Amino acid sequence: MTGATEESTFEGAPPQVTEGMTLSIPPTLDLFEEIDRLKAKLNAVILAHYYQEPDIQDIADFIGDSLALAQRAATTDASMIVFCGVHFMAETAKILNPGKQVLLPDLRAGCSLSDSCPPEDFGRFVQAHPDHLVMSYINCSAGVKALSDVICTSGNAERLLRQIPQEKPVLFAPDQHLGHYLMRKTGRELLLWPGTCMVHVLFSEHRLIDLKLQHPDALILAHPECQENLLRHADHVGSTTSLLDFIKTHPAKKFIIATESGIIHQMEKACPDKLFLPAPTDNGCACNVCPHMKLNTLEKVYLCMRDRRPEIVLPEALRLRALVPLERMLAMST
Ligand code: 13P
Ligand code: SF4
Repeated sequence: MTGATEESTFEGAPPQVTEGMTLSIPPTLDLFEEIDRLKAKLNAVILAHYYQEPDIQDIADFIGDSLALAQRAATTDASMIVFCGVHFMAETAKILNPGKQVLLPDLRAGCSLSDSCPPEDFGRFVQAHPDHLVMSYINCSAGVKALSDVICTSGNAERLLRQIPQEKPVLFAPDQHLGHYLMRKTGRELLLWPGTCMVHVLFSEHRLIDLKLQHPDALILAHPECQENLLRHADHVGSTTSLLDFIKTHPAKKFIIATESGIIHQMEKACPDKLFLPAPTDNGCACNVCPHMKLNTLEKVYLCMRDRRPEIVLPEALRLRALVPLERMLAMST
């Protein structure tokens, strides 16, 4: 587990929640009521990402993109953070607010971007480019954060990059597509780590064009983790919060959404009179669903609060090194 040693990843973690444990929940139990009761008893706050299943979004105290979730985790006065997202998000909460107990309903909830960048390999890459400033996307492990000068999210990456002196060479990791997007936006050369998001690379350009032909009045919204051939069709590119804000304020009635489909739940709640079409994937599979995010379920949220585990634990020396670029991000985002 990432929390156990500096180099480890979620893949090595023993499954903390099994089907057997899930079955130990009495079928008559009202999970919504129980989670509310435990929340009050434990003085817990439930933070959820937009890619969580609708029931989890509905019980959350706060839903946000990676930046807003990190900011909320850093400042909460609750005693416990129940983080309904993936491992790097919960780990970030622990790095920023170590006095809180941070629970992740399923400890196996990882991220293909984070997995693409093992700290040992990344350390060698950084060492080979000592003149570069290291800017890492928040979708990475604590070990990679500890090797970085500044962290960014999709919500602030462009703003932060523009604050770095133009003459300073920048190494960007781990998402090559977000990196390419930043290069096009700022006109600046970046040295890229070749990571990708397994969800955002699977949208199909030709199927998107077909869908747009069927719905010429629909606007296309895309997350910058998508590839360039997708992004070039987008009317708006941004973080999950940015996409949600866009549909709330734009007068259009129809949108094609090129990001994980979980966010459509909030879009439909915010604008029930508008239509949201998930962008199509290559083979018609449900590949626009993040399998890591969806490991969390309402049952596992209840179980983790009942049992106060699985918990994020980090070696203090690693936490302190990973804290430096995260605090720099928060300071540069204000
Ligand atoms: P946001 O920060 O835009 O919510 O993105 C998180 C993420 O994992 C996208 O795949
Ligand atoms: Fe990681 Fe992609 Fe899932 Fe986001 S959608 S958590 S980047 S695998």
